[in-house]
Amino acid sequence: MMPSLTGLRSDLDRVLLDAAVIQQRVAELATQMAQDFAGKTITVVAILDGGLFFVADLLRQIDLPVRLHTLSASSYHGGTQTSGEVTVPWPAGLTVRGQDVLLLDDILDSGLTLGTVRDRLREQSPASLRIGVLLSKKRQRRQAIAVDYMGFEIKDEFVVGYGMDFQGRFRNLPCIGVLTPPS
Ligand code: IMP
Ligand code: MG
Repeated sequence: MMPSLTGLRSDLDRVLLDAAVIQQRVAELATQMAQDFAGKTITVVAILDGGLFFVADLLRQIDLPVRLHTLSASSYHGGTQTSGEVTVPWPAGLTVRGQDVLLLDDILDSGLTLGTVRDRLREQSPASLRIGVLLSKKRQRRQAIAVDYMGFEIKDEFVVGYGMDFQGRFRNLPCIGVLTPPS
């Protein structure tokens, strides 16, 4: 039998942010972005897979022209610890010179992923470059990142749901929660 959402939810120790709270905050971020980019076309660079749900919900609430590029960056390799190495296959067509770029990811943790992508984008001399994340973990970064838009600041613990996974699971949870530690 396929696990139901109730089934996935039952693996959570607790829900940190329920679906309605996330949607409300995403709407606020969209409003802020629409004001900041008014009169412009936004070149969105979205980091997948984790950012998929955030980006999809967010962009549908921004009533401005958008170009969308996706990247699959990974610094996590299956567990809850970052490997310290970030791999970012760069799509051939991704050039942002002179464009107004909005770099989006699900969560800012060590900063290595966003830092790596941000630096690659900067090399191309965009007209502007802003960064948005749904979550930011309160911790010491391995790379400092100035974030322009942040949904929620959370403490330094491993979360799943709304795009974020543990070993490939839990991305489709509509809420964000903390897993029950293995006994
Ligand atoms: P960073 O490079 O350490 O900042 O990690 C960023 C990436 O690691 C994010 O794009 C997520 O995909 C993943 N990540 C970081 N923290 C978590 C977490 O608590 N749960 C799930 N994925 C996470
Ligand atoms: Mg990610």
